[in-house]
Amino acid sequence: MASPVSTGLATRALPIGQTVRVGTDAEKRAAAEVAAGLVEDGMRVGLGTGSTVAYLLPALARRRLSLRCVATSDRTARAAAELGLAVEPFDGLDRLDIAVDGADQVAPDGWLVKGGGGAHTREKIVAAAADRFVVIVDSTKPVEVLRPPIPVELLPFGLQATLRRLAPVSLRDAPPSSDGGVIADYTGPVASPARLSALLSATPGVVGHGLFDPSLVSDILIGRGEKVERRTVS
Ligand code: 5RP
Repeated sequence: MASPVSTGLATRALPIGQTVRVGTDAEKRAAAEVAAGLVEDGMRVGLGTGSTVAYLLPALARRRLSLRCVATSDRTARAAAELGLAVEPFDGLDRLDIAVDGADQVAPDGWLVKGGGGAHTREKIVAAAADRFVVIVDSTKPVEVLRPPIPVELLPFGLQATLRRLAPVSLRDAPPSSDGGVIADYTGPVASPARLSALLSATPGVVGHGLFDPSLVSDILIGRGEKVERRTVS
């Protein structure tokens, strides 16, 4: 059994029924495979972005279900399509049955930091549209307290003024997001995720930020060695 976590969230261990390599890649794959097992035939599925989701896509494709998928980034859309998953534009769907995505940090109360890959604005839209949002991570992602950097996506218009209001913030040496946004990282303190989330959301020029409220999150699957620990959040 996985060790209990110091949180009010329900916790249980899911044996994944196979031997896996020790290390974060094996943990990512194990969590992704459990998540793929939660997807049912006919579902509308949101696909996240990142190296953990890269393990989800083949696991989902192997199940040969009839699915309608929406991708949170061009790279996920391409990888999913190459595996034979039916990816369509999000414009045609008003809600999703399930979305699965990775995270950079997972707090004990279910707050997340996302956006290491710069796709957090789309990822939040997809998570919010899903009846069930499942987060898949390896054992390095749970933290006691969220810490900077917090990814942000900024409108190019008035960028210098937005950066001044947000300071301290650091621009990423990265291409624009799929929607033309500038990706940066807020590097100030994270004393209260709720207050910082409200502040970032209220800052003109901020299109999106990587703090995800626990109310968005249904389950967190954490690969730990050969087991996958499951936290039910909301
Ligand atoms: C991309 C994300 C990713 O889900 C997050 O960065 C985790 O990535 P990985 O699975 O590669 O550790 O938010 O914007």
